Amino acid sequence: MALWSGRFTENVSEFTQRFGASLPVDKALYAQDIAGSQAHARMLASAGVIEPADAEAIVEGLDRVKARIEAGDFAFDINDEDIHMSVERALIADIGDAGARLHTGRSRNDQVATDTRLFAKQRCEDLMAANVALRQALVRQAEAHFDVVLPGYTHMQHAQPVLFSHHMLAYVWMLARDFERLAAARTAADASPLGSAALAGTTYPLDRQMTAAELGFSRVIPNSLDAVSDRDFLLDLSYACSVSCMHLSRLCEEIVLWSSSEFGFIELSDAFSTGSSIMPQKKNPDFAELIRGKTGRVVGDLVALLITMKALPLAYNKDLQEDKEGAIDAAKTLEDCLVCAAGMIETMRVVPEAMTAQAKKGYLAATDVADYLAKKGMPFRRAHEVVGHLVLVCEQRGCDLDDLTLADFKAESDLFEEDITASLDLESIVAARTTEGGTGHAAVRAQLALAKDALAADEAVLAG
Ligand code: ARG
Repeated sequence: MALWSGRFTENVSEFTQRFGASLPVDKALYAQDIAGSQAHARMLASAGVIEPADAEAIVEGLDRVKARIEAGDFAFDINDEDIHMSVERALIADIGDAGARLHTGRSRNDQVATDTRLFAKQRCEDLMAANVALRQALVRQAEAHFDVVLPGYTHMQHAQPVLFSHHMLAYVWMLARDFERLAAARTAADASPLGSAALAGTTYPLDRQMTAAELGFSRVIPNSLDAVSDRDFLLDLSYACSVSCMHLSRLCEEIVLWSSSEFGFIELSDAFSTGSSIMPQKKNPDFAELIRGKTGRVVGDLVALLITMKALPLAYNKDLQEDKEGAIDAAKTLEDCLVCAAGMIETMRVVPEAMTAQAKKGYLAATDVADYLAKKGMPFRRAHEVVGHLVLVCEQRGCDLDDLTLADFKAESDLFEEDITASLDLESIVAARTTEGGTGHAAVRAQLALAKDALAADEAVLAG
């Protein structure tokens, strides 16, 4: 029998019961649902709407329901449409009339919005913590291999040499922005809908500020219609998850490439690799590929919710029940991906010789040679052409720029002098990039300090 049985003479079919139920998904919100109900009951008593003894019985009864759920001793019944009904039915079965007073001045509409916001806040915090752990792993690798030089790429072609630490830190900054997006999603969720009831508020003297404060919300949503129908905070969470997963996918794409025989820049630990059932020699970067692959479903979760929301009139519509599954999945998927990526980065073996060997190929000094001429007064566009021709000479001879003699250089321009050959080694090329944010050793050291400051600040946010 449904909790609304008064108005009905017939039950829904078993099929429609299952079709309409959200319990399999929203039972994950049991703790938030119980906390919300306890706050509501205490507030009802303090406002004189129910007796203090009833509120006390409700709070204690809900503690018992929670303990049973956590002990695996709670039989979820599919005849209960959702977690709100499961908990309320169990409470009423336990304490009778006092339990039947809990839903005074409340609707499942403000109840579900409250639960979902509490849940979203918690998940944002969990994800922020996992984000910090991955950044720490990246920073540790950057510090451990600070000076290693590898080719920097544009169009996946060798472009200019960069420090490995610089490359790792690029991901640290992406993740620092992800942290901000998660923090913003948390702020968006941090407002209380409770007390909005079904859509219009109630006739009881509810104290919304009181329940908001008890539940740790920093503010109350000012409009009851908006309060029960707004799911922007879940979109913000899903968007933050999508962008972060996209960043992890980019990192993992590089891990897949770097661990290939062609690159050999890193070796993943056995704990983050799999073999082949047929090819005995194989060591595959499955988990990096899987993170790359999971990005699709996280972005799908975001798009699904956007489309669910796009034509909903005010206020609550049952479509909104479709909001939780994707958001829960997006958060869980990103959390797993962050944890997996952190372990993979932490345990990978960096192969400096392979990186440096590649950095020696592909005329990575070309821009520096052009800069050499430009600094001696040749217009850069002209210098570009001169060095382009030098590269052509190298191509024809099958050598690199630092194999050319001073005479070879002078044949292209009189501006070349003795010092040109001395400045073409990788170390000098990297060290010369002194611009703030550039790959020069000093600039990367300064950047590393900034990244660690940002990390410490975010750790402090988490510590509260
Ligand atoms: N299970 C519902 C949901 O997740 C709870 C709210 C139902 N409200 C209603 N009026 N049917 O959205």
